[in-house]
Amino acid sequence: MLKINTERLKQDIENLSQIGRGDNQGIYRPAFSDADMEAREWLKSRINEAGLHVHQDGAANIIAQLNPQKDIPSVMTGSHIDSVPGGGHLDGALGVLAGLECLRTLKESNEKLRHPVECIAFSDEEGRFGGLFGSSAMCGLLTPEAIHQAQDLEGISIVDAMAKQGLDALHALDAVRNRESMHAFVELHIEQGPVLEEKQLHIGVVDVINGLAKWNVRLHGAAAHAGAAPMNMRQDAFQGLAEFAMAIPHILEEVGGDHSVATIGRVSLSPGAANVVPRLAEFSLDVRDSNPTVLKSLTDTIHRFLTEIARRRQLQFEFDSLSEVDPVNNDTQICRTIDTLATQLGINHTRMVSGAAHDTQIMASRTRTGLIFVPSKGGKSHTPAEWTDWQDIYNGANVLLNTLYELAKA
Ligand code: HGY
Ligand code: MN
Ligand code: MN
Repeated sequence: MLKINTERLKQDIENLSQIGRGDNQGIYRPAFSDADMEAREWLKSRINEAGLHVHQDGAANIIAQLNPQKDIPSVMTGSHIDSVPGGGHLDGALGVLAGLECLRTLKESNEKLRHPVECIAFSDEEGRFGGLFGSSAMCGLLTPEAIHQAQDLEGISIVDAMAKQGLDALHALDAVRNRESMHAFVELHIEQGPVLEEKQLHIGVVDVINGLAKWNVRLHGAAAHAGAAPMNMRQDAFQGLAEFAMAIPHILEEVGGDHSVATIGRVSLSPGAANVVPRLAEFSLDVRDSNPTVLKSLTDTIHRFLTEIARRRQLQFEFDSLSEVDPVNNDTQICRTIDTLATQLGINHTRMVSGAAHDTQIMASRTRTGLIFVPSKGGKSHTPAEWTDWQDIYNGANVLLNTLYELAKA
């Protein structure tokens, strides 16, 4: 079995984690921020130092290539180096750096490979501008309208954010890769949940990835005096939001499944004064499930609930759909290969569902995919407390390395 250079991978993870690190030790590398650009330049230098080809496509995906060949489809791996605000140092970064280490090791091994091998750092996976941007571009899922409409919570457009870094967002439309250029895509990622740790297992072989619906919701009521307005005469937008929030567990109970989740992660009230009944409640809604039919019935039921609450409370309900991604099944043969290799490496493993979204589910629209998980300490992620033991990191990287080799070998 091939083995990575653990010290080299550890150095890369520790060095990248210094870029965009905040006082609270969280990582602040939103897509196309200066910290993201600094991390990109650092990554390109590491790819060059490894003697690998480096290519940047129209979506600013950074692609390391081993033995690129025009007419032979590539075995691909990768993830993302952008982060949520105050995120952890491994979310995405692990998949990119372990992938880079796999390409270095394959290059040094001089093993005969039939297929080129690529490692991709995808742009804006985390969704500053909606999410899964780079992989969606590569799979031809972007439209000029979607690019023009994409903006962050401060109202900065992706067009302006990329232009500030000397990039043209519309060039993302040129990033499309045809199916013939892709042989398979396999990603390594931290689990970001508690399952592996609770079961004391060290590798997750993900066969299904949750789909998601991301909305921005607005409930419009009427401002009124907090002291003088009688309770039965208010059009209180916050009370509408609160009633909906309390209904979420009931909705999941009624129409959800084992993997259904729904999250309100951001709320803003206007005018936002303590002595004024809120006229506007604007909030994010993130709904996920592993089954497309269940996901649809969840969003339909949520829409009905919000419509009914708005009618009864004389509010106006509006929502923008920011992102809708289907659940996907990874390739059964690739899952089997990962199972076998983990066993041969003496690492215990289990099949599992991914609650989080990943570039893998976008790449699945164009090629066969696999997704390998390693445990997250305490199931924590999207927080500075994110941690995975080094041995688990090395295990994951070795399973990825041997999977890529199996897929690429002559
Ligand atoms: O939201 C997600 O599932 C991922 O972390 N972008
Ligand atoms: Mn991620
Ligand atoms: Mn994430």
